[in-house]
Amino acid sequence: MTVMNVLEKTLRTSFGEIENVNSNLLDWQEVDGQPGNYIKVLTVDEKRHRVDFLFRQDPHKEFAKHNHRCTAVALTLEGLWGYREGDEMHFPGTFSYEPPGSAHTPYSSEQGMTVYASFQGTGPEMLDILDEDDNVVDTLTLDFFKQYYQP
Ligand SMILES: [Fe+2]
Repeated sequence: MTVMNVLEKTLRTSFGEIENVNSNLLDWQEVDGQPGNYIKVLTVDEKRHRVDFLFRQDPHKEFAKHNHRCTAVALTLEGLWGYREGDEMHFPGTFSYEPPGSAHTPYSSEQGMTVYASFQGTGPEMLDILDEDDNVVDTLTLDFFKQYYQP
């Protein structure tokens, strides 16, 4: 007997506060101001200042240097990437924990990269975008990520 699984053809389901997402049905959306960087927003929890998402970089791309106002975690799913400030390279299965106050510039190798990531804030501020002198030039809030949410 074949059991119909509603998530196979449905982007989102929920019961109570539980949300389920078939991320294969989400479209990659290029991140504003960050060419070659793409996002699929899985869930946004405004009450708890949290966003969960998939993030992808095309080969040899970079995301602007930033300082974390939130706690971030990232699990690499595909490719090879690193931080300009460090020597280590992340491959599928590697995990990063980035507490508030971490500053770095993620860049991808010739393989590009895909990660699952989660940002957990204590308020709506998630990332401060820095210039080359580490001045804050922009602050990305939960609303910035919410604009990529596909219902
Ligand atoms: Fe980061």
